[in-house]
Amino acid sequence: MAPEPHRVVARRHQTGDVVTLELAPVDGESAGFRAGQFNMLTAFGVGEVAISISSAPRRGAPVEHTVRDVGAVTHALCTVGVGDIVGVRGPFGTDWGLDAIGAVDVVVVAGGIGLAPLRGAINELAERSGGPDSSNQVALVVGARSPDQIVFADDLDRWRGLGVHVEVTVDVAGPGWDGSVGVVTALLPGVPFDPANAVAMVCGPEIMMRFTVRALADRAVPLERIRVSLERNMQCGLGWCGHCQLGPFLLCRDGPVLSCSPELLQLVAQRER
Ligand SMILES: Cc1cc2nc3c(=O)[nH]c(=O)nc-3n(C[C@H](O)[C@H](O)[C@H](O)COP(=O)(O)OP(=O)(O)OC[C@H]3O[C@@H](n4cnc5c(N)ncnc54)[C@H](O)[C@@H]3O)c2cc1C
Ligand code: FES
Repeated sequence: MAPEPHRVVARRHQTGDVVTLELAPVDGESAGFRAGQFNMLTAFGVGEVAISISSAPRRGAPVEHTVRDVGAVTHALCTVGVGDIVGVRGPFGTDWGLDAIGAVDVVVVAGGIGLAPLRGAINELAERSGGPDSSNQVALVVGARSPDQIVFADDLDRWRGLGVHVEVTVDVAGPGWDGSVGVVTALLPGVPFDPANAVAMVCGPEIMMRFTVRALADRAVPLERIRVSLERNMQCGLGWCGHCQLGPFLLCRDGPVLSCSPELLQLVAQRER
């Protein structure tokens, strides 16, 4: 339960209110993790929150977390400086299941900062795909509120260079934006992947995930091959306190990544209490 002290070795702004922190343990090596898992981060003297790991697992490398400043704890985390100490507890939860994915097309759909828990998985998939000539397609569809809210802009270009089919859309275009305008689901009919041999990974606001699952199902992707990452208020992270309960699931233990089912979609449609 005790947070391990980690030093901030680098920080960079993604957008006006989103910051990526690279954390290295003060003593020893970072705990291993799998793409899609999360840590509990402590801003000492303020509190502890769940934050997804936004880097790919790499032995000895600092572990990255990308935080949106929405309240007291995330504000404290977004304003730490290089050299400051934060606490890390974890990793917790389920992952995107890349080890068992096999030779299939992968379609990734992210809304806003929902790209953070997917970034490590996309890095791994892009590196293992064998480049633009690979027979298995990796496609990424990203939605943001406006062009200045797009996170990991450098990664999008790098992934394109590695053969990932990347499409970006915004709700509201700004000056100089000549890309797509509209919701991610409007792009899905044209995204290149073979629904009969594809796995989908989705993370973003819950309403966006519900419509995205429906659009993927319309393209005949079976529900059980669509994985979503869900968020609920987390406290212990260990399946003890029940704060993160969603129907029969404790999301810190059984999630955050779950395979879709009609029952899960119904639960997600209910408001969190
Ligand atoms: C598994 C998991 C992974 C997460 N990964 C990330 C991440 O990678 N980056 C990131 O910035 N945030 C992530 N979050 C959300 C993050 O935990 C919350 O934003 C944080 O707890 C807010 O705490 P606060 O004290 O800063 O704000 P508070 O004062 O607690 O809340 C401020 C506002 O944020 C809302 N809020 C609080 N908790 C959540 C939540 N869990 N989800 C959505 N809105 C919330 C509140 O309703 C309120 O409107 C994740 C949450 C979970 C459960
Ligand atoms: S956060 Fe305590 S049971 Fe999940």
